Amino acid sequence: MFFIFSSMSFDCFKETIELGDTVMLYLGVNSMHALEVQPKIKNKKEEMVENVFQTTYGALKVKDLVGKKYGSKVELSKGWAYVLHPTPELWTLTLPHRTQIIYTPDISMIIFQLEIRSGSIVVEAGTGSGSLSHAMIRCIKPGGHLFTFDFHSHRVSVAQAEFESHSIGQYVTVEQRDVCRDGFGAQLQGKADAVFLDLPHPWEAVACAASVIKESGEFGNIVIL
Ligand SMILES: C[S@@+](CC[C@H](N)C(=O)[O-])C[C@H]1O[C@@H](n2cnc3c(N)ncnc32)[C@H](O)[C@@H]1O
Repeated sequence: MFFIFSSMSFDCFKETIELGDTVMLYLGVNSMHALEVQPKIKNKKEEMVENVFQTTYGALKVKDLVGKKYGSKVELSKGWAYVLHPTPELWTLTLPHRTQIIYTPDISMIIFQLEIRSGSIVVEAGTGSGSLSHAMIRCIKPGGHLFTFDFHSHRVSVAQAEFESHSIGQYVTVEQRDVCRDGFGAQLQGKADAVFLDLPHPWEAVACAASVIKESGEFGNIVIL
């Protein structure tokens, strides 16, 4: 039997790496990888094999990370690397791209302008690769909630799986929906402190977005011309 372990790496800071953590393997400023600390991984033939991560400085047996201190130096077969604690900023630099993403300088401005804080109810479309979502979740937890929408079913299921595996699934609801056609759902009407649209045609969702914002809420969107 094979177990998938999940621990708290994105939800709170801790000293030591545990099974199930997502860690950032830092080889250099332009070479960083997000690794899930699982002892086994599926190969191309769908067989479970030892999880060995290959880098330009040689191989790393991922299970050997368990018990190492975050921030420490680890040996690779032909060199060394640092293992860093995950943050939304490092996730943005290492996440698997399914779409274009928003990067940290813009994310900071978006969060500041929308006045997103602990306890905020935030609505976002589209979810995309979840780059902005991770940063928003860190701001709103523990009392707030992010409702994020995308019409692409694979992007929805992968984002949901990543939030769960990062132990932040309790702060976010991911829904497959065409927000330009169908809006954001009756249950969110007048509930959101902030709404953010990163869509190809955001103007098509503005009327529906307006209807979910509280009287005192904020609205923002990205328009690419
Ligand atoms: C540029 S990506 C968003 C990237 C995201 N902000 C991030 O930082 O990772 C735009 C997303 O909007 C989704 N999308 C486009 N039109 C949509 C619509 N009408 N309703 C819901 N999602 C839509 C796409 O599937 C895509 O995943």
